[in-house]
Amino acid sequence: MILFNILLVMETNILNIKNLKKTYKYSHLFKTTLTKALNGVTLQVKKNEIFALIGLNGSGKTTTIKLLLGLLSPDEGLFEIFERKEITNNIKKKIGFLPEIPYYNADFTPTEILKFWGKLSGMTKNQLNKRIPEVISYTTLEHAAGRKIKGFSRGMMQRLGLAQAILSEPELLILDEPMGGLDPKGIIDIRKLIRQLKKDGETIFFTSHIISEVEKIADRVGMLHKGKILKVTDVHKNLEEDFLKTIKEYDENDK
Ligand SMILES: Nc1ncnc2c1ncn2[C@@H]1O[C@H](COP(=O)(O)OP(=O)(O)O)[C@@H](O)[C@H]1O
Ligand SMILES: [Mg+2]
Repeated sequence: MILFNILLVMETNILNIKNLKKTYKYSHLFKTTLTKALNGVTLQVKKNEIFALIGLNGSGKTTTIKLLLGLLSPDEGLFEIFERKEITNNIKKKIGFLPEIPYYNADFTPTEILKFWGKLSGMTKNQLNKRIPEVISYTTLEHAAGRKIKGFSRGMMQRLGLAQAILSEPELLILDEPMGGLDPKGIIDIRKLIRQLKKDGETIFFTSHIISEVEKIADRVGMLHKGKILKVTDVHKNLEEDFLKTIKEYDENDK
């Protein structure tokens, strides 16, 4: 008798976002302006995958990230990170974040900046002495580790931002436009780093409007348009075409 073993692999969702909605309200001189930024964001990010949230400028990518980080609260919908609805400090410690434009004081060196952020996130001196050289080497910033960041290129700042994001060895990385504003060499460096992070076991959620780049590194993408996720798909050869067709169809029905 042949025994068939059916192996059910349970996939863990690191991020589970359901129908998030957010409208910005801005009041000035008795006039209130409303901007609907998110109008139904639903997606799941699985453990150890690279998931890209793609969309045109103004489609709501950064707003989605701000909600996940707890910087804004949603009007509707909910999300879970590591299968938890409540985003406690312990959950936050498992998340590394790279903002769209990382900003640091120009008079500091990468080592000083990493020490400062590491201490803020509760790392001990011993942990930092071991970890800082590791992240500096990981992001190939060795030659600049002791130099003031004044005059750093956009690519170097981005690598420093990534070094900071991975400093406390988070399990989930949230990167807002990690390739934005970089030259081709900078893009290749960041691409390599993101790939390596996946190999090392990280789960990566990043935003981008550069679809040709997303194709090269993401496993799956969510197409965000006018604050709504129109499609979630595996990365495939005609991603750009698929994206443009998907948003065009939506716009035609939305008229
Ligand atoms: N603080 C804010 N106040 C008012 N409107 C905002 C604010 N931030 C973003 N928006 C608007 O929300 C929409 C989505 O913006 P954003 O999330 O930054 O998009 P993306 O990151 O995809 O470019 C845009 O229309 C933008 O103008
Ligand atoms: Mg943005």
